[in-house]
Amino acid sequence: MKKTSVIGLFSAIALVPALAGAAEPIGEHPTYSREVSRIIQDNCQICHQDGQIGPMSFTSYEEVRPWAPLIRMKVLSREMPPYQYDADIGVQELKGDWRMSQEDIDTLVAWVDAGSPMGNPEHLPAAKQFPAVGEWRLEPELGPPDHIIKSTKWDVPGSGQDMWWEPDVPTGIAENRCIKAIETLPSQAAHGSTHHANSQFLVQNEEGEWVTFGRLSEYAYGKLGEMVPEGACRTAPANSQVRWSIHYYPDGNAVADDQVSVGIWYQDEDFDEDAAYEQDLRLYALQGGDYAIEPHGKLMTQGFHSFDHPVRIDSWQPHLHLRGVAMNIEIYDPSTGRREVISQASNWSAGWNHSHTYKDGSQPLIPAGATIIQTAWYDNTADNPFNPDPDQWVGAGQRTTDEMSHSWIAVTHLDEEGYEMMLEERAAAEAGGAP
Ligand code: HEC
Repeated sequence: MKKTSVIGLFSAIALVPALAGAAEPIGEHPTYSREVSRIIQDNCQICHQDGQIGPMSFTSYEEVRPWAPLIRMKVLSREMPPYQYDADIGVQELKGDWRMSQEDIDTLVAWVDAGSPMGNPEHLPAAKQFPAVGEWRLEPELGPPDHIIKSTKWDVPGSGQDMWWEPDVPTGIAENRCIKAIETLPSQAAHGSTHHANSQFLVQNEEGEWVTFGRLSEYAYGKLGEMVPEGACRTAPANSQVRWSIHYYPDGNAVADDQVSVGIWYQDEDFDEDAAYEQDLRLYALQGGDYAIEPHGKLMTQGFHSFDHPVRIDSWQPHLHLRGVAMNIEIYDPSTGRREVISQASNWSAGWNHSHTYKDGSQPLIPAGATIIQTAWYDNTADNPFNPDPDQWVGAGQRTTDEMSHSWIAVTHLDEEGYEMMLEERAAAEAGGAP
């Protein structure tokens, strides 16, 4: 501290002549009003403002300043904004990517290191407008949803621990339809406490039991809806139910009879279902593998899945529990012997669930016979800050204190013709894009 202030003093003296008449030295260090306010607006305010899920509001210098040291720590460790996806390996072109640029992180850190100065208030940007709470964000583009399915009512208390609400609800879908877009919408009143809300389709098997058909929607706070890539059909099955998994995190406001909604936009009548490739969003588990993580121990597991036809991978969402610390997916192509990591989350946190959706044209294209390898790493030592009890043996199971190891992966199922065509399109785009 002493050293900094001495340097500060010298440079202040040195700058005095140059500064005569100037309001603020430009470029010496970042200020709140000039750079930091804009970075906070773009990356943090969606959650960090009154009534949203961030525990504190970041809408003014007075609100941000006391948190400066913690902000520095959280952005450097990339815990905030909460989006755990490695920047140095795998596909980097993602839709709805919350990661901050290295440049913005460096600017925030430099600002805190300079003593978090306000700067000249005249440089402050206008307050940023956020989408209205409780309205479909896809509506301006697509109109209102064709079909809305709501969770059954649940009383959210004003305070207390995390809670899960997992009702099954009939969909009323009479015949199979192709989905164009999906959005999950918490109620206006419980907007701040609905941390995430996932839904999946269930259908009845021959014995009449309800079994998983596929994922309908996945929602984490602050998210937009999901559009199914063009030319693909994600089926909404007839005679189905929706199983909700809603994670509430009380935020001070008690809400009686709360309901979360999922809106579905179907493909238009003239959509050629026969020409479309089927896309599904499914869980890829470790196949048959049970495992046990010993007290104070570490473990790595791997799951494998092969396709007998070519596929396009559209999104990936890792899922582990409290001992899980990292996961990735790789593609192994036995025809070439090549193995390639396509996505990795090496600072995984169970508090956040994200589906990493690859941008159109960047989705991995995989030949028939290739294998998806899912690798997960667990840390049951006291070094894992999320570990509730390092003295326990931990096995696979449903409870939060058990472990889980699977991914939700959206896959478009191709044939050889479609696969070759997509490869050619990519090659053409690459050739066209080259200088
Ligand atoms: C998607 C919503 C969301 C976004 C975006 C977000 N935060 Fe947060 N933030 C939260 C939530 C929820 C918590 C409390 C739970 C937690 O720490 O995970 C939190 C906690 C924090 C904390 C306090 C941690 C502690 O230990 O008390 C800091 C500091 C923070 N965020 C800074 C930021 C900054 C800086 C940004 C932008 C660069 C940002 N957050 C973006 C939701 C968000």
